[in-house]
Amino acid sequence: MAKKNSDQLSLILIGLMGSGKSSIGRRLAKHFGISLIDLDDYIVEKAGRTIPDIFAEQGEEGFRDIESGALREVLGKPAVIATGGGVILREENRALLKDHPPVIWLKASPEFLAKRIDGDSNRPLIAAGETLRKLQQLAETRYPLYEQCADFTLPRGDMKKREALQSILLFLAEWQAERGL
Ligand code: S3P
Repeated sequence: MAKKNSDQLSLILIGLMGSGKSSIGRRLAKHFGISLIDLDDYIVEKAGRTIPDIFAEQGEEGFRDIESGALREVLGKPAVIATGGGVILREENRALLKDHPPVIWLKASPEFLAKRIDGDSNRPLIAAGETLRKLQQLAETRYPLYEQCADFTLPRGDMKKREALQSILLFLAEWQAERGL
C-alpha cells in the first residue's frame, strides 16, 4: 500500500466534470495526511469571483488564462491537486502535467456523469437540458487529451468511492516502489 504521511507526494487528478475529482481527492489527501488543492476553488478564491462570473465577464479564454496561471502556482506542492475538467485543453498545461507525475485520470462515461451533474448551475459549459449531449461532445474531444497526460486511468462507472480509492492506492504503491520512493 502507498506510504502514508508522504510529505513529498504531489498527486494530480484529471477528468471530466462530475467524475469525482474533488471527493476522491479529499479521501486521498486524508489518507496521505496532505492537503487537497481544488483548482476551481483556488481560482475562485484568488479571483474573488465565481466560475460562472469569470466566464460571463472574461469568456472561456479569460478563464483558461487564469486556470493556466493557477496550475503553474500549485504544481509540485505536496498535495492532491484536483483540476478542472478543461485543464488539459491547452498544450502548455498538458506539458506541465506530463512534467509532474503521477497524473490520474478518473474516466467516466457521459451517461454516468450526466446523472451526477444535471441541473448544476455552477457549470457554465453545461446548458440546461443539454447535459448528456454536451458531455458526449466533451468526451469525444477530451478523452484523447486526458489519455496523453495520464500515468494511470481509473475507470469509474459502478465502482464505489472506496474501491476507486483502493485501486488508486495500489497504483501509487507500485509507482512509488518503481522509483524507490
Ligand atoms: C470545466 C470544468 C469545471 C470548471 C469550469 C470548466 C470544463 O471544473 O473548471 O466550469 O471545461 O470542463 P470541474 O471539472 O471541477 O467541474
